[in-house]
Amino acid sequence: MINKIRPHRIFDLVPAEEKSAVICLPQKKSLTSMLERGILLSLAKAVKPQRIFEFGTYLGETTFMLAENTEAEVFTLDLGESYDSPQLDNFEKNNLAQHRSNQKQWEIRECGKRVTQLLGDSTLFDFSSYHGSIQFVLIDGGHQTEVVIKDTENALALLDRSKPGCVIWHDYNNPHYEITQYLDGLSESLKLFYIEETKYVVYFNEHFPF
Ligand SMILES: C[S@@+](CC[C@H](N)C(=O)[O-])C[C@H]1O[C@@H](n2cnc3c(N)ncnc32)[C@H](O)[C@@H]1O
Repeated sequence: MINKIRPHRIFDLVPAEEKSAVICLPQKKSLTSMLERGILLSLAKAVKPQRIFEFGTYLGETTFMLAENTEAEVFTLDLGESYDSPQLDNFEKNNLAQHRSNQKQWEIRECGKRVTQLLGDSTLFDFSSYHGSIQFVLIDGGHQTEVVIKDTENALALLDRSKPGCVIWHDYNNPHYEITQYLDGLSESLKLFYIEETKYVVYFNEHFPF
C-alpha cells in the first residue's frame, strides 16, 4: 500500500538556512499549485541533485524553478514540433500547443545556461546516455497509462544509485487519469510516498535517509 505523508514532513527536510526559494507565481494555464511548487523545491533542496530530468516541459515553469533553486544541470523533455499527435487527447494537444508557443522563463535567466531542452516522444526517446546519472527525476509528461508505465521504467533506469536521489510522479489522485491505480499497484514493489494535499508521489533511493 502507498505510504501517505503530510507536506510538513517534506518541508522539514530542508535545513533552516536554505528555506528561501524563488517560486514562479502560477498563471491561468499552470498545472501545479503553490503548495506543490514548495514541495517540489523542498525535495530538490533536500536531495541536492547534480542532474535533474523532467518528463514534460509544458510552460517550463517547473524547469525554471528547479534550475533557479539548485545548482543542477536540468534536462527537460517534451514532444517536438513535428510530432504527429492523433493519440493525444484534447487536453494533451492543448498542453503541446502551450509548450510550443510559450516563452520559457529560463531562456531569459542566468540559470538557463544549465537547462537543456530535449524534444521527442518519451516512449521512443533514447535515454541510454543518461542512465544512472540523474539524482532527481520528475515524471509529468504523457498521461496515458502506457506512457506513464514506459516513463517510469525509463526514470528508474535514469536514477543514480550511488548518491541520494528520487523519482517523483505528478497527477496521483487526478480523476482524469489512471495514474493513481498504476502507482497503487507499483507501491507493492517500490516504497512510494504520497504527499497529502498534492498530486505528488515520491520514491527515494537507498541513499536518501527518509
Ligand atoms: C502536464 S504537462 C507538464 C507540466 C510541467 N512538468 C509543469 O510542472 O508545469 C505535460 C507535458 O508533457 C508533454 N507530453 C505528452 N506526451 C508526451 C510524450 N509522449 N513525450 C514527451 N512529452 C509528452 C505535453 O506536450 C505537455 O507539455
